[in-house]
Amino acid sequence: MKLEINKKTIEVDADPQMPLLWVLRDLLAMTGTKFGCGKGLCGACTILLDGSPVRSCSTPAIAAEGKELTTIEGVAEEYKHVQDAWVELNVPQCGYCQSGQIMSTVGLLKKNESPNDEEIEQALVGNICRCGTYGRIKKAVKLSVQLKNQ
Ligand code: FES
Ligand code: FES
Repeated sequence: MKLEINKKTIEVDADPQMPLLWVLRDLLAMTGTKFGCGKGLCGACTILLDGSPVRSCSTPAIAAEGKELTTIEGVAEEYKHVQDAWVELNVPQCGYCQSGQIMSTVGLLKKNESPNDEEIEQALVGNICRCGTYGRIKKAVKLSVQLKNQ
């Protein structure tokens, strides 16, 4: 099947029911998207489909056909302000959840360029961080808005 990943068309020989997480990690060696729970509960595997966050561990490959799929590898340029905010505030601890946190943040900022505290919390409520970096994540989302507007 043909998938549109990070603005490139990629032909991939995958079972249509294979979760996108394994298409990305195992077939395409795109390991920025992480495997956490495998059950749609932790958010570590978050990607965007047509700009909205979805859990790639529980979304079959077929669901991405004809849609624009974006992974953490595809946001470095357009969303550099998010990356810069994460670096400036030293957000990650172990780092494992952070690509999912950033993808949910990018999904939020695509719809809402200046979210308030409640909107940030709602957008990120499904992204679990075992290291407890939630306070820094929230600050980084706000800083990324400031950096973009500078
Ligand atoms: S690995 Fe997909 S939600 Fe946890
Ligand atoms: S930084 Fe370790 S799980 Fe979030």
